[in-house]
Amino acid sequence: MERTFVMVKPDGVQRRLVGEIIRRFENRGLRLVGMKLLQPSRELAEKHYAVHLGKSFYEDLVNFVTSGPVVAMAWEGDNVISLVRKMMGALKPEEASSGTIRGDYTADIQKNLIHGSDGPDTAKYEIDLWFSKSELLVSLEQ
Ligand code: TYD
Ligand code: MG
Repeated sequence: MERTFVMVKPDGVQRRLVGEIIRRFENRGLRLVGMKLLQPSRELAEKHYAVHLGKSFYEDLVNFVTSGPVVAMAWEGDNVISLVRKMMGALKPEEASSGTIRGDYTADIQKNLIHGSDGPDTAKYEIDLWFSKSELLVSLEQ
């Protein structure tokens, strides 16, 4: 059993796609173990995207993700990290297949609705960054 961090970005909240995104994960049988609505501080966004520091898109990305409320979530399930990445769709709009969240709802490389952790280390880092332990459900396996 794995956990992953998912964020509905400001464009997803603004476009009223929060319910649609949650519905897709619930339909797939994933278990929601943490969720909150917040406008991220610059500090939180910079820590979240620290891996991209120095890249050409970094400043725009931090500005965008702090521009409005986001929905931060933790989801649990078997191989949930790669499953969520598949359901999100690719970053490049022309590579995001129909049937994926990005492929069905956006063609913008930045305003791409959703973030999902890309591996076990980032999932742990991001869940610990966005949630305190008391904000997360206890694992069913414990
Ligand atoms: P990345 O981690 O490569 O993509 P993903 O969100 O699929 O894990 O990039 C993080 C975010 O940075 C991405 O969602 C949107 C933004 N970004 C750009 O705006 N332009 C770019 O060229 C890249 C690579 C990323
Ligand atoms: Mg990424």
